[in-house]
Amino acid sequence: MTTASAGGDAQRRRRFVNVAAGITATGGLLFGYDTGVISGALLFIRQDFAPLSPLMEGVIVSFLLVGAVVGALSGGPLSDRFGRRPTALLAATIFAVGALIVALTPNVALLVFGRFVLGLGVGIASMIVPLYIAEIAPASRRGALVSLNQLMITIGILLSYIMGVAFAPIEGWRWMFAVALVPAVVLFVGMFLLPESPRWLFNNGRLEQARTVLGRSRSPEEVEFELQELEEIKRREREQGTRQRVELKELLSPYVRPALIVGIGLAIFQQITGINTVIYYAPTILQGVGFSEGGAIAATALGVGVVNVGFTVLAVYIIDRVGRKPLLIIGLIGMIVSLSLLAVVFSTGGTGGATGVLATACLALYIASFAISLGPVFWLMISEIYPLRIRGTAMSVASVANWGSNFAVALSFPVVLATLGGAGSFWTFAVLGVVAWVFVFFMVPETKNRTLEEIEASFRGTDVGSSRVR
Ligand code: GLC
Repeated sequence: MTTASAGGDAQRRRRFVNVAAGITATGGLLFGYDTGVISGALLFIRQDFAPLSPLMEGVIVSFLLVGAVVGALSGGPLSDRFGRRPTALLAATIFAVGALIVALTPNVALLVFGRFVLGLGVGIASMIVPLYIAEIAPASRRGALVSLNQLMITIGILLSYIMGVAFAPIEGWRWMFAVALVPAVVLFVGMFLLPESPRWLFNNGRLEQARTVLGRSRSPEEVEFELQELEEIKRREREQGTRQRVELKELLSPYVRPALIVGIGLAIFQQITGINTVIYYAPTILQGVGFSEGGAIAATALGVGVVNVGFTVLAVYIIDRVGRKPLLIIGLIGMIVSLSLLAVVFSTGGTGGATGVLATACLALYIASFAISLGPVFWLMISEIYPLRIRGTAMSVASVANWGSNFAVALSFPVVLATLGGAGSFWTFAVLGVVAWVFVFFMVPETKNRTLEEIEASFRGTDVGSSRVR
């Protein structure tokens, strides 16, 4: 083979992985959009279905999270049993159906049901997107490619703010939901054209298909190397008498348990350090330090939406070089500092120019710090640390912990805010941030630049091939 054609092949393989990850990450876009769009839409839903009790508003908002818990719970077992690709196709279909129900609903009951359906899609997408991308990505670029998912989540949130502003003049809340049909169709058609994950194929005895799919993104030598690693793991499993059928109690076996703790821990810490209270309540927080309504919304879109996207882009660029753990360590320090500063700003009780600027700057620092650490790293790590044969199911467990904590925080935050005040709430998040830092420092392993099989072997306490060819 000439050098030129080898270079061309490498480029083609790179392009395939990029396109596949890009298409799959449309699921992240829908996750971000459907979770973010309600804050703008609610203003008009309130008018159309008046009178709407505060409880009913809460139900409309939070039923998406309930759906997400159920979706996250089902996505893993489905993907282990039927494959990653059918599960992603299912998520795309659910997104489309949910968007239609909400956009066309004649009454509140169907609106709530539609939010639940959208939540099912969000829950499944939240785990299947990182899972599929991790299983097709070469080790050296896996961090960046899987983090595309988180980048698309943040873009989805920003787009939902923008659509909220765009459709406000015509009070078009139904349109705000309807536009999500476009990415849902893109995801469906895209996933239809993409192949099944090579690792899932291998694990289900379809070696030749696995080889063909791997060959689209790896050099022939790399294909053989990865298949050997997979064979090695299968051989170990046979030696240890592991059964063909996956049993749930395997989740607690000694070689999965440490990874399970890491996944659940990161899931909970990602939420209880307050990210979504800021995403959902930023305008309220800013009004508290003297912003007008319009000013607060504009400052949120800029301070939260744009900074979130910008720093996630940075994370995508550096995550494979710097590694996951250093980003967590540094980002959490930024979060703790900014939360403490916010608490101080709030306890002074000041309003007006300087306080407003300082509060916005703190919010921006907080979001930036999250965007380079817990934001992308949680979803990435849970796609990396579990053994292949139980990967989907274990990811489900971590995702359910994430959505459950998201729900618990959303539900309790108004009460916490009323009881402890702004300053007390931010101090609470800051302290939880310190606990998260300690957890990360002692419990979380580094996964950069290792194949999924090397990571699996290190959890099993054995070592398969140690070469770092990629
Ligand atoms: C992560 C979180 C999600 C949050 C988002 C903000 O994806 O899981 O809850 O809304 O980051 O960027």
